[in-house]
This record gives sequence, structure tokens and C-alpha cells, in this order.
Amino acid sequence: MRITLSILKADVGSIGGHTKPSEGMMEATRRAVADAIDKKLLIDGYVAHTGDDIAMIVSHTRGADNDDIHQFAWQTFLGATAIAQKGGLYGAGQDLLVDAPSGNIRGAGPAVAELEFDHDPVKTNPVRPAESFMVFAADKCGPGAYNLPLFLGFADPMYCGGLMLPQMIQGFRFNIIDMDHTEGDSIIELNAPEDVYKIAMLLRDNERFGIDSIYSRRYGEQAAAVSAQRLHSIAGTYTGKDDPVALVRNQRIFPAPEELVSPFTKAHYIGGDARGSHVMPLMPVPINTPVTGIYCLPLVSCVGFSLDADGCFSNEVVDIFDNPAWDYVRIRAQEKALAMRDQGWSGAAMLPYNELEYSGFRDTVEGLLSQFSVRNGHEAATMSATSSSQ
Ligand code: 13P
Ligand code: MG
Ligand code: MG
Repeated sequence: MRITLSILKADVGSIGGHTKPSEGMMEATRRAVADAIDKKLLIDGYVAHTGDDIAMIVSHTRGADNDDIHQFAWQTFLGATAIAQKGGLYGAGQDLLVDAPSGNIRGAGPAVAELEFDHDPVKTNPVRPAESFMVFAADKCGPGAYNLPLFLGFADPMYCGGLMLPQMIQGFRFNIIDMDHTEGDSIIELNAPEDVYKIAMLLRDNERFGIDSIYSRRYGEQAAAVSAQRLHSIAGTYTGKDDPVALVRNQRIFPAPEELVSPFTKAHYIGGDARGSHVMPLMPVPINTPVTGIYCLPLVSCVGFSLDADGCFSNEVVDIFDNPAWDYVRIRAQEKALAMRDQGWSGAAMLPYNELEYSGFRDTVEGLLSQFSVRNGHEAATMSATSSSQ
């Protein structure tokens, strides 16, 4: 069968500031997913939150960008918004940026990542005798939060020894999106290993370029899908963080879970955090963790799934970062966070002017710029020098 995995995620309200959605919102979302399974729109679904963002992970046979699936998600987010509004929660409906998208909700605010593939998990299937995948969800993060970890997991044998195996040695194709381009998706295809320097040159810029998808070059199978978009490019102003999600298939012809998560031990610095305008390390956390740390330390969760022959998820999922191994990384992330917070607003602690997501910061600078005046008549001197040379 041809199966599609979709992750649809939005921040539609949270308790006590932007920390986590209420249990009422979560329950309503779970009920909506159960109802859609009963009505055969979905095969299966799983609902969880990372910080204040609710994510629905669903399987179905309708393909990517399907209007019915996307409209179901939009209506479900509207339902959770109504509960947030009634309870007086913060930021009710925050990520629903347009009034009523007619079909596909890409570009309407919620983060969407989708993977479509042939699903025939039998022992004799040489490519995918079993289907396993992981879902990453990040909160308080800029759009390129996965650039470095996915690059290392799919292109660097220091992190993924599996790249040296025959089924992966031809490498992976990276589709990279220019998120500054708002008229349609602007994509470049680059191949690892031969293009790794070019890939790195783009992916170093987490605010502009993001991984859109990754494909196995030997098998043509899609390995990963990432929601790479900028909310402020949609809304024209700051409305919240981009908080990207990613779907990553693993094992056999793809890297193994341990290879894919090992780059997250870095707790690398990314943009986002408080008011979407600072730089802090990415801390791996268990699923359903609220944001309560200093300066909105960015969080990432990772849940592992298996898919049966009918496209149903395994009864249990595995919460990858809910393990003592990651306690050490969390301490490290906290230490890195404190080191950065030591310098407050200075230099690298805040994003550069053009990346300050909170547009009010730019308004403050603009207001001050208009009050500058040139000292010592230097400008007049320059002007007269120019005019005398004519
Ligand atoms: P969210 O988009 O997760 O609400 O983050 C907003 C923010 O700027 C935190 O300070
Ligand atoms: Mg929020
Ligand atoms: Mg959020």
C-alpha cells in the first residue's frame, strides 16, 4: 500500500504564559483524532505536546498535501483554540495565521511535515522489511534547528558509522529550501558526500536555509521530511516561534536511531528562545515537557514508532530522550545556556538585527535611528567636497 505519515503541529494556547497546552486541549485533540480514525479518514494517530505546541502524528493513504487531512487538522486546532479561549489561556489560536485556508494548510501557520512511501513490510522485502521512524518536535526554536543534527546524521560518518555500509555508501540527497523566498518553495538539490561543503555553506545559516527533505540516493526512498518555514514570513510580523517538526525513517537503508540522535548530544546553539530573538542551546527532553527553563531554553523531543502492515502505529511508542543517558546532555545544555546568558544582550547572545523575530526590537532601533544627528558638520563637509569636484 502507499502510505503517508503526516505531522501537523501548532501552538494554539497555553497555561501561565507560553509553557504547555491544557489537558482539556490535549483531550479534545485526542478525541478528534480518534473520531477521524473511526470515520476512516486516518488509519492511526498519536497526540502529544512539546512545550506549548500540540502535535498530531497520523498515518493515512491520502498522500501529502491532502485537503481533507489538512482541513481536519485545522478544525482540530480551532477546537483546541476555543478551549484555550474559554479558559483564558495565553496565545489562543496563536499559530492559526490566516482566516480560513481553503485546502492545504501549508503556509497558514501550523508546522507540517509529510512522508509518503510504498509500505509492504514483509520479510522478503529487501529495502523495508519493517517500517520504523522517529518524530522530532522542537519548541522555542528557529526554523533551522535540525540543520546541524540531520546533516551529521546523514552525511558524517563520525556520527553515523552506517554511512560506510553498502546500502548507504552512495550517500543521501539533501533538498534545501530558501526560507526567505516566500513566493512558492525555492529548493536546491545537493548530494552528500560530494557536495558536503556546499551543503554546510547553506545549512550554517539556520534562519534562512533549512533541510526540506532527505532521500536515499541508492534506493530513491525518502528518509526525512522537515517543516521548514518562517512564521514571520507568513504573517509579516512576529507571531511566535517557528518550532519545526521532522519525520525521520530509520534502520536498514537509513541511519539507525542511535546514529540519528547522537548529534543532539551537542546541545548546539540555535536562534529562538525568549522573544524569538536570542541564542541558546537545544536541550533534548522527554515528550510532553513544558517550557519552564530560563529564557525559554529551546527544547526538542523525539518519539520512535513502528508501523504494522495495515499502517497502524505500534501500541507503544518509545520516548527516546527520556533516558538517563540524556540527563548528562541536559546538564550540559543548561551549563551552555548559563554561559550564554552571562552576557545578556551582548553580541552573540542575541540574534543579529535582521533575524530579531520580535519586530518590536527593530521598531525600537528604527525609532532611535530617526533621532541620530551627524556630529561636527561632517556630512555638510562631504557634500561640499562632492559639489566642488563637479
Ligand atoms: P512560542 O512560539 O513557542 O509561543 O514562543 C514564543 C516566544 O517568543 C518565547 O519567548
Ligand atoms: Mg507559544
Ligand atoms: Mg511554541
